Amino acid sequence: MKIINDDGGAQSFVPQTPSMPPLPPLPSTPGVAELENLHLWARNAKSTGALDGSTRDFLTTTARNPVLRAEAFMDWIDRRIKHGGFPFGKALASKPAAQTSLRYLDGRTRGGINFSSQEYLSLASHPSVQQAAIDAIKRLGVHSAGSSALAGNIVDGNALEQEIADWLHTPHVTLFPTGWAAGYGVCRGLIRPNDHIVLDVLAHNCLQEGANAATKNVHLYRHLDVSHAKKQLQRIRAKDDVNGILLITEGIFSMDADSPDIAALQALAHEYGALLVVDVAHDLGCSGPDGTGQIGVQNMLGKVDLVMGAFSKSFASNGGFVATHSHAVKEYLRYYAPSNTFSNALSPPQIAIIRECIRIIRSPEGQLRRDQLFTAITALRGELRARGLTVMGQPSPIVPVLLGRDDVARVACKLLAERGVLTNLVEYPAVSNNSARLRMQVMTEHTPEQCSNAADIIATAWAEAQALLQTEQPEQSDGFVAPVADAEGFHSQRVAEPAE
Ligand SMILES: Cc1ncc(COP(=O)(O)O)c(C=O)c1O
Repeated sequence: MKIINDDGGAQSFVPQTPSMPPLPPLPSTPGVAELENLHLWARNAKSTGALDGSTRDFLTTTARNPVLRAEAFMDWIDRRIKHGGFPFGKALASKPAAQTSLRYLDGRTRGGINFSSQEYLSLASHPSVQQAAIDAIKRLGVHSAGSSALAGNIVDGNALEQEIADWLHTPHVTLFPTGWAAGYGVCRGLIRPNDHIVLDVLAHNCLQEGANAATKNVHLYRHLDVSHAKKQLQRIRAKDDVNGILLITEGIFSMDADSPDIAALQALAHEYGALLVVDVAHDLGCSGPDGTGQIGVQNMLGKVDLVMGAFSKSFASNGGFVATHSHAVKEYLRYYAPSNTFSNALSPPQIAIIRECIRIIRSPEGQLRRDQLFTAITALRGELRARGLTVMGQPSPIVPVLLGRDDVARVACKLLAERGVLTNLVEYPAVSNNSARLRMQVMTEHTPEQCSNAADIIATAWAEAQALLQTEQPEQSDGFVAPVADAEGFHSQRVAEPAE
């Protein structure tokens, strides 16, 4: 796996248990009584199994009744919830702003600096965005009342399609009810059972699910590895010159915050008679010239076959889209992508919000918001690194902080929530065994001071968590290959042989 450094250089990264830096002394923050409590808590949590296991265990439970399988899972998360080690399923108790409060599954509401919301440009609270939603509700109501294949799109949705087309220099756009639906739909809509999909091994779940639903011929390539993608294409074309191929990547990968060489992949796609799809969910709007993300940064505007995006990160809404150079593909996706055809279209307020966000993103205010966002990103990455933490990927609103062992990460996350840093944990099997990480998401509103405070709290919590569990050995891999890169960065068993 390639990681691009902040200075643009590349380094190799193998997603396995990181070599831990020497343990720093226990921080001075907690008093003796608190430390004793923490030790007691850690022993209890460990003895009840709350720090062991993963969601993967409950994919293979063997009860005939699905309710019993769910109950086995519930028993496990109950143990984690009881010990404060289940940082998932949280609900916002106020706006997704830089400072917010979240209700956890243990029923407690915790407030703090918020790095757990995908609100990159802080546009959800923008007065003109809110006003646009209100105006649309007054004019058109709140309901789309149908699929876009029937009568669900609204004329404002047609205008949104045109605005995205103009922005991306890609003349035809189909809207989808969500970003997930767009990723699933572009695969499932365009690809038939004898076709092939060549997919970056770390591509988002919507692309993996769409690919697997469309064809058995799914070929994964090592993360960002153009030469491996080429090998896969060569292998396919050596046996099959008849069927179609989609080659798929993302602008910014959502777990590792790194980017592919889009021009090289596009050239490869054309060389082998394939179409390239780039998922720009995390970079469109919040980065690049005129907010055009990695496609703009890499001078590929208007040169990518299919651009797929989500409005859920920089556009303060739900929704997704696919942009194409072919009018026929635009219309085809409306009737053959089931996640579009059989799902209600975006509602009037969603469309109004997205349109107003695009207007702001493309204005001088949008540039200011991006500048401020990247000031916060640089501050956070720098502050975390200055405290000895491993920050992955390149500067982007996603800041992954490698914590390593899953049990240590769970304990650290519990401490973070109690000390006022709200952030998401990614653990096995979403990433490889013992490469758990915080997936921090930065927004325009974050101040450098908040970033520095958060880095302090994170470094302290991580050191404490390591100290509390330092007698434990890391769990060995159980042989399951998570839907991410293994040590080779590649899942050989998931690669289908090219169709004869
Ligand atoms: C890379 C990527 N693509 C697609 C999606 C799906 O988007 P949405 O949540 O808007 O359905 C996500 C969601 O997080 C994502 O990270």
